[in-house]
Amino acid sequence: MKQVIIIGCGTLGKTIIRGIIEKLGDFYKITAVCDALEEQAREMASFAHADIVTSADEIIAQKPDYVIEAASKKVVEDFAPSILQAGIDMIILSVGALADAALLKTIRQAGQTGNAKLYIASGAVGGFDLMRAVRFGGLAYAEIHTSKNPRSLNGAPYLNGAQLPPDEEICVFDGNAREAIQGFPQNVNVSVSTALATLGVDNTHVKISSIPGATCNTHEIHLGGEFGDIDIRVRVHPDKANPKSSTLAAWSILALLERLTQTIVI
Ligand SMILES: NC(=O)c1ccc[n+]([C@@H]2O[C@H](COP(=O)([O-])OP(=O)(O)OC[C@H]3O[C@@H](n4cnc5c(N)ncnc54)[C@H](O)[C@@H]3O)[C@@H](O)[C@H]2O)c1
Repeated sequence: MKQVIIIGCGTLGKTIIRGIIEKLGDFYKITAVCDALEEQAREMASFAHADIVTSADEIIAQKPDYVIEAASKKVVEDFAPSILQAGIDMIILSVGALADAALLKTIRQAGQTGNAKLYIASGAVGGFDLMRAVRFGGLAYAEIHTSKNPRSLNGAPYLNGAQLPPDEEICVFDGNAREAIQGFPQNVNVSVSTALATLGVDNTHVKISSIPGATCNTHEIHLGGEFGDIDIRVRVHPDKANPKSSTLAAWSILALLERLTQTIVI
């Protein structure tokens, strides 16, 4: 039985905790949870019959097999280096943190020192197997076009407090993954994970559209090069409780945890 600690008991953290207990209970035991909001932590600790931890040191002292992050970019920045250096594998959702080249370097070094891995969950998209494969086949172009209801995008720093039009489809952003995650930190972690698997944050093209009335988040990934071209289209409902989030991201953690238990790995 592998022991896991969950950081973040919000929208996705709750689905992950329930999923581990209900679907992966033969393989994993949640030993502790962590959340900056005491009430959230208490609620999920009680549900999971787990401890509450509040710092990287407390997490490391528990010696879990995996630490799962479903909290924020800041948690990746503050917790990942010491957890990896202590030899504990980590699985993250707030991938946007890795657009920072200095943090990426620190995390790589920490993982090498501790002989630990940082797993990036596929999150709200997929197709990373194809992305990784075509890098060996002359990948020359990578783009991700994300389309969401304006209510999922409103409030992003890039918009400087402006509200997106409620009745007009518009392209809100056109740039690279580094700029996209700065402007839309809650919405486009997927642009950074796509970039990390393809041409990097400076060379991966990102478009973001606002579609009034849209009931699904759509991510269209285009890959091109000597090998030919690939289009991946993901169209899924946003999380009911938090339209800025995607339940698919929580399922991707459960799928990765399941994969880590398997003998025949697909
Ligand atoms: N990779 C992807 O495709 C993908 C998809 C959706 C969401 N995400 C990311 O996953 C993360 C979680 O998303 P969510 O929808 O569950 O968010 P949420 O806001 O519903 O929940 C986040 C929880 O983490 C806690 N938290 C935040 N900062 C913390 C800190 N420093 N220490 C301890 N706890 C802290 C909050 O109190 C909150 O309870 C976000 O960073 C989000 O951007 C990634």
